[in-house]
Amino acid sequence: MSRRALLKVIVLGDSGVGKTSLMNQYVYKKYSQQYKATIGADFVTKELQIDDKLVTLQIWDTAGQERFQSLGTAFYRGADCCVLVYDVNIQKSFETLNNWHEEFVKQADPVDPEAFPFILFGNKIDVDGGSSRVVSEKKAREWCASRGDIPYFETSAKEGYNVHEAFLCVAKMALEGE
Ligand code: GTP
Ligand code: MG
Repeated sequence: MSRRALLKVIVLGDSGVGKTSLMNQYVYKKYSQQYKATIGADFVTKELQIDDKLVTLQIWDTAGQERFQSLGTAFYRGADCCVLVYDVNIQKSFETLNNWHEEFVKQADPVDPEAFPFILFGNKIDVDGGSSRVVSEKKAREWCASRGDIPYFETSAKEGYNVHEAFLCVAKMALEGE
């Protein structure tokens, strides 16, 4: 058994939910208030040790804005895990999860869509100390259950809350399916 693994992870979700910020927090420990829309798609890599394996996560950050989705979806293929992100303060970003999920399955065309590792991040839980939140943790967990027990993490890219834990779960799931 090889002690190295290269795992491809795709991050999807509406524009502005914090996909780029989560990745920057995880990989560079950096956070910026300023919003700069992602154009096309790009990846960063992060190495981590899981048991006796050296894992390289290749994390693909994608554009939430439709007009910037210039790369299409061909690069979804060969993914080992798909991270779906929504903003707990924006109902619409939760409702569109169905579309992102569906689109990924359609384009990535995994061998067994039911068994493919998805994970959900509910981001921006720091906003107004949680008082502007519109999607409850219960609702999010129900959605995850309805999609075949998708793991769920509540995160704050701003405060770095739960970000490492969430991506560690991503790495472990991707590794299992490899
Ligand atoms: P697209 O590239 O357009 O798809 O957006 P995105 O999902 O990459 O969002 P991005 O990471 O650029 O974040 C959008 C805005 O939300 C930025 O102004 C961030 O600073 C802010 N933001 C991201 N995560 C958090 C968070 O956890 N808490 C708070 N308060 N703001 C956040
Ligand atoms: Mg972005």
